[in-house]
Amino acid sequence: MAIRLAVLASGRGSNLQAVLDAIASGALDARVVGVFSDRPAAPALRRVPAELRWARAPSGFPDRAAFDAALADAVAAAAPDWVLCAGYMRLLGEDFVARFRGRMLNIHPSLLPRHRGLRTHARALAAGDAEHGASVHFVTPELDAGGVVLQAAVPVLPGDDAEALAARVLGVEHPLLVRALQWAAAGRISEREGRACLDGQPVFTPPRLPYVPA
Ligand code: GRF
Repeated sequence: MAIRLAVLASGRGSNLQAVLDAIASGALDARVVGVFSDRPAAPALRRVPAELRWARAPSGFPDRAAFDAALADAVAAAAPDWVLCAGYMRLLGEDFVARFRGRMLNIHPSLLPRHRGLRTHARALAAGDAEHGASVHFVTPELDAGGVVLQAAVPVLPGDDAEALAARVLGVEHPLLVRALQWAAAGRISEREGRACLDGQPVFTPPRLPYVPA
């Protein structure tokens, strides 16, 4: 049976689109049951029919906990099997994470544990990294610190600026995310004691998708 996916997104939603395309082509046995955003103008929202959209500005809530609770209630009402953060740019509080722990994934544009947080492409360049990439990981209360399921690497090339590097990484994010969700749909991934497991075995060195230059 198709897994039910709730997607949290704040921005353009190209990762969401990759998921929708994979579902439409039959590559991914899933159904997007809601797209949730902290930015009512997020282009990601327009990628799904209006009845699947939920968006509220956090400024309309008394505090972060109240926003998180409203978001969590809306997500729970869609009865998802998995919650996917795909360019969701707001920190999720502990209560939110606890409610969906073990079935919430994030895609992050770096080879974790390198470069948690923001501006990962500029930081990879500043550090002189020879390679960079993206990771799909379980969400835990600590930012970008949950067990990594799968990664995709790209080379850093001479002359790269943050924009060029971000574009190369985005090209591998989409197949990376689809593959991780295929594993979720097949019941192959889980989280145990903060570590990702694949086929029941803890992941110590995350597997990587092979790099195919564009
Ligand atoms: C991606 O780079 C993702 O890894 C990061 O935010 C960006 C979102 O892009 N978390 P999009 O909105 O999916 O196009």
